[in-house]
Amino acid sequence: MFTVSKNILVTGSSGFIGFNLSKQLLSEGHNVTGIDSFNEAYDPSFKRIRQQILKKDSNFKDYELNLDIYKNLEHIRDTEDFNYDIVFHLAARAGVRQSFLDPVSYIKDNAIGTTNIANFVKELGIKKLVLASTSSIYGNSGTNKMVEGVDEKIEPPSIYAASKLSGEVFAKNILENSETNVIITRFFTVYGPFGRPDMSVLRFIHWIVEGKKVNLFGDGKQSRSFTYIDDVTELLILCKSVNTDCTLNVGNNQTSTLIEVIQYIEETTNTKANIDYQERAYKDPDIVLPCLENTKNITGWSPKTDIKSGVENTVKWYFENRDLIKNLKYL
Ligand SMILES: NC(=O)c1ccc[n+]([C@@H]2O[C@H](COP(=O)([O-])OP(=O)(O)OC[C@H]3O[C@@H](n4cnc5c(N)ncnc54)[C@H](O)[C@@H]3O)[C@@H](O)[C@H]2O)c1
Repeated sequence: MFTVSKNILVTGSSGFIGFNLSKQLLSEGHNVTGIDSFNEAYDPSFKRIRQQILKKDSNFKDYELNLDIYKNLEHIRDTEDFNYDIVFHLAARAGVRQSFLDPVSYIKDNAIGTTNIANFVKELGIKKLVLASTSSIYGNSGTNKMVEGVDEKIEPPSIYAASKLSGEVFAKNILENSETNVIITRFFTVYGPFGRPDMSVLRFIHWIVEGKKVNLFGDGKQSRSFTYIDDVTELLILCKSVNTDCTLNVGNNQTSTLIEVIQYIEETTNTKANIDYQERAYKDPDIVLPCLENTKNITGWSPKTDIKSGVENTVKWYFENRDLIKNLKYL
């Protein structure tokens, strides 16, 4: 299908989701400008690998800068002679555990970074802002499905969650009564090719394939809505055509336990995991389960990839890229 080429700004373009989204946007013929600080939240050499892949496309350019200083965005404003049609704001310092150790970086990158992006969008009169948020803000809701409505009481249980929720609130307030359409996407445990080496699925694959000890926090019976990256990218692409302010859960409709994920990796690689059970992480929820009704009603989207096929695809990708990625630091 013919698509009109747009100028799109993607923050966090060398991160996991930003990279996969940028690739998709480029393949559709859009001009993509990336922003990334290449911070050391996890092995930055992986971010460089992703960046080099994107740079092969002449419709991609990027800025290495930190969003926590507005002047850095003024530099982009003063350099480019065009305006952006859409901003996808994916840059963030992610991860619950780390956020207790380094709260200030989380507040700077997530709360201040998002405030600066919202001010930039407002100053330039950009018509659409798609903002990444997280299921972590819901905390432990038990088996109740997590609903995005305004009535529910949300008490973010970590510095990470609070920094992301405040980003949502600041952006909405800054862009209230403006012509900008603000779409908030709350992701649930995303995994897949080019995934994060500080998250469970890629770490498990690496440790099992390379014959290392598999660190498992708790008994592994915690359930997560593991969401495959292609499904997430598909939803983000659909957001280009959403013309209403909204908050959307982006997750899988079935949950799996960590132990089940390890079993799928064992089956796919034909290798037994050597599990080292460790103390359960602080405030780790038992079950994370999204309500996806609102997302389906607004975008027509629903997740397509079950965990078994998603794990198989990710293992296949790991083997195809093993030399490139086996020496990364898997936190
Ligand atoms: N991956 C998941 O499971 C998941 C789940 C829920 C929410 N999210 C959200 O999705 C978004 C993308 O996550 P991801 O998994 O791709 O993470 P990621 O860490 O791989 O990517 C984020 C990128 O943003 C960059 N960045 C961070 N702070 C920055 C700043 N101040 N200025 C410029 N660049 C900065 C980092 O260097 C990194 O490359 C984040 O907003 C995250 O909070 C992710």
